[in-house]
Amino acid sequence: MTIRVLSVASEAVPLVKTGGLADVAGALPAAVAPHGVEMTTFLPGYPAVMKALSRPRALHTWDNLLGEKARLVGGKIDGHPLLALDAPAFFQRDGNPYVDSSGRDWADNWRRFAAFGRAAADVGGCMVKGREFDLVHAHDWQAAMALAYLRFSPPDGGKRVPSVMTIHNMAFQGHYGADVFPALGLPPHAWAMDGVEYHGGVGFLKAGLEAASMITTVSPTYAREIRTAQFGMGLEGLIVSRADRVIGIVNGIDTVQWNPATDIQLPQAYGQLSLGKRVANKRALEAEFGLEASDGPLFIAVTRLTWQKGIDVLLECIDHLVGTGGRLALLGSGDKAMENAFDAAAMRHPGKVGVRIGYDEGLSHRMQGGGDAILVPSRFEPCGLTQLYGLAYGCVPVVARTGGLADTVIDANLAAVMGGVATGVQFDGVNYASLADAISRTVTLYWQRDTWRAMQRAGMKTDFSWNRSGRAYADLYAALIAEDQ
Ligand code: ADP
Ligand code: GLC
Repeated sequence: MTIRVLSVASEAVPLVKTGGLADVAGALPAAVAPHGVEMTTFLPGYPAVMKALSRPRALHTWDNLLGEKARLVGGKIDGHPLLALDAPAFFQRDGNPYVDSSGRDWADNWRRFAAFGRAAADVGGCMVKGREFDLVHAHDWQAAMALAYLRFSPPDGGKRVPSVMTIHNMAFQGHYGADVFPALGLPPHAWAMDGVEYHGGVGFLKAGLEAASMITTVSPTYAREIRTAQFGMGLEGLIVSRADRVIGIVNGIDTVQWNPATDIQLPQAYGQLSLGKRVANKRALEAEFGLEASDGPLFIAVTRLTWQKGIDVLLECIDHLVGTGGRLALLGSGDKAMENAFDAAAMRHPGKVGVRIGYDEGLSHRMQGGGDAILVPSRFEPCGLTQLYGLAYGCVPVVARTGGLADTVIDANLAAVMGGVATGVQFDGVNYASLADAISRTVTLYWQRDTWRAMQRAGMKTDFSWNRSGRAYADLYAALIAEDQ
């Protein structure tokens, strides 16, 4: 029997992406399909989403969805069913799904994503005729209220369904003042410590975590880390109290989009047995970043420029990196002060450091295909995808030992190198000394050409497809549905 899942997310490739959540929400339907799951993705009707739906027909209408009119419309996303919440007052805005053009959160984000949650609960709770679901899977705080509505205010005439809440990033929780509670349309008893109340206000992610049948996060190590104050960001107590309901399932990557043998973004395609061809990509990348051509190590970084990513520490290490004979190409955007600081570093090291501020999917592929090593010095990293792309492309990851980075990269210690299983470099603690040391180790390994080749090959051989994790999600859905009956 096919299991029908409603996956509720605020972004999904190829329609809308600000980070890894979109990659994962976009990949999940195909990942679980071979395991008997039909996944429907539910997205807010942003301009890009509505544009992708040709002449959408209303499947349901709301006259008053947290104060606004809304319609449910349907279509396809990469061949899988898509539903969108067409609510122009909430989602027909230019720019980013979460922030305005000056980078500030939209002031009504609580209402926008509560409305999205309310609608998702109605749809997932089977209020819409002809659209039946067996389980609701919500991603991050923007979708979390769906589970609170299902718990405290299920749709009339609907059906009870089990739920999964996935944490892609504990740093974003959706906290609002107590004053928004009355407008949410929840019954008074939802205002409780094990409900939506959080430190005197409303916590969206918190509400979802309390309501979910099962909590997942995107790597086993992060699932353990969030039980501690350092990583739990205030929700560690809740995670500990529900520990028997928390598991980590590591993300896969889209191996069609990310395959160096067929990637149309690359000047030169290559595979494990033709790594020598990568040099053409390296030359092209150097030219693209205005770097001098050299056989020395070329480090890359593709990242949001935020505290999470340890990018400030990378900035401190730039002189050291250049001192070891390395060069750096960085693509990123985010914090304005960090953007300026990287531009300044590029001016200081002409030919050695190249910086591109912005978001550029194609360039991110060319960097993985031409760079020698990718730096990921994150302070915390629920899973991380760029190190996985690095592994697939023979761009050796240099990562902090945390979250999914710890779970997916095998450090080149002596035993791992001797055993031929090393795939990258890990370091403990995100600070100048540890990152500088990791960069030095990487440069040493780079010049041991046979060892380096073996590391590249071991990385490329690793299975980071969705096969295993797709099955893990499908098994979880089946178990929760069985438990509920
Ligand atoms: P996070 O979701 O925390 O930002 P991930 O590593 O899970 O981290 O995912 C980031 C995704 O966004 C990857 O697909 C990465 O290639 C992409 N990415 C990040 N910054 C940029 C950028 N400036 N240009 C292009 N792609 C980027
Ligand atoms: C978040 C995390 C990242 C993870 C991604 C997809 O944005 O920061 O580590 O890979 O979600 O799960």
